[in-house]
Amino acid sequence: MRIVSGIQPTGNLHLGNYLGAIRNWVKMQDEVTAAGGQCLYFLADLHAISMPHDPAQLGANTREMVAALVACGIDPDRSILFNQTQVPAHAELQWLLNGTARMGWLNRMTQWKDKAGKNREGASVALFTYPVLQAADVLLYQATHVPVGDDQKQHLELARDIAQKFNNDFAPEGQPVFALPEPTIPPEAARIMSLRDGTAKMSKSDPSDMSRINLTDDADTIMAKVRKAKTDPEPLPSDKGGLNGRSEAANLVAIYAVMAGETVDAVLGRFGGQGFGAFKPALGELLVEGLAPINARFLALQNDREALDTILVKGAYKARELAAPTLTAAYQALGLVRF
Ligand code: TYM
Repeated sequence: MRIVSGIQPTGNLHLGNYLGAIRNWVKMQDEVTAAGGQCLYFLADLHAISMPHDPAQLGANTREMVAALVACGIDPDRSILFNQTQVPAHAELQWLLNGTARMGWLNRMTQWKDKAGKNREGASVALFTYPVLQAADVLLYQATHVPVGDDQKQHLELARDIAQKFNNDFAPEGQPVFALPEPTIPPEAARIMSLRDGTAKMSKSDPSDMSRINLTDDADTIMAKVRKAKTDPEPLPSDKGGLNGRSEAANLVAIYAVMAGETVDAVLGRFGGQGFGAFKPALGELLVEGLAPINARFLALQNDREALDTILVKGAYKARELAAPTLTAAYQALGLVRF
């Protein structure tokens, strides 16, 4: 088994990233490395330049994200933790895959449509070809599983389509150049929603900090954000069906269930019939308790620049080695001369 996944170093890690993806990264690290497989986790810093960004901030954000991932439980001795920029094979393979990816496929990507908005002519080319780089990220390592939140599912389906077409076009009889990766999406936390709007996903790009819980928020901030989270006036229902059409309530109950390791029905069995005046403080406390150890580890690590850079140097070294054979096979399949 080979696990590969990435995260953009664009500011704080939030609860959506943690419950949707990073918790699974840690779980897979513990299971897969014990069974002799490998886990590669990277900071998608090349993806981060597809939108306007501040060069003075990118390095700091990258190191901050390394500290956050380690604080969440990623162990750089067991997982390979690195930044994309340090492994040039990602950008090289993207170019090779640009010959296989189709304009029509990329035009259908919902993230492209959302992020470019009405101003397609003014969007960067990198934003358009973003999913091809993402395909290169996973195909380069023959990833078997890719732990992500639901919003990345479409990009991974595209990676499979690109791999399949490349294999068909350039290795029709021999050994396929790329393995087809499977997305691993946690059913109960696939899509954590904004605290201000139950129809929008929790996101780093939401201008309101009240819309998300950051893993660096202190206890008072977490309690205040949960207290002010948007809800409706009805009490909580006693079973899951009663959450239909109540997106904000459903989101808060889902967060509680995942953090407590319980089912939604078990949570409603306890809180059904009660109002948010009772539920919100319980949810706030659960979050404070669950996130406090991560927060403490993050604060202890974040200013140790030398330690963080050493992690990235070592990770890149290992990743380059694992990337080399597939990159060579892709060049060869395309007939490119390379000594
Ligand atoms: P990014 O940086 O936006 O998010 C990192 C991970 O967090 C998940 N996630 C969520 N899950 C549930 N609810 C939410 N509200 C929520 N918000 C974010 C994302 O699904 C993701 O798993 N393009 C990717 C980074 C990337 C990548 C890759 C991922 C680059 N190359 C190769 C996998 C494989 C991104 O921008 O994720």
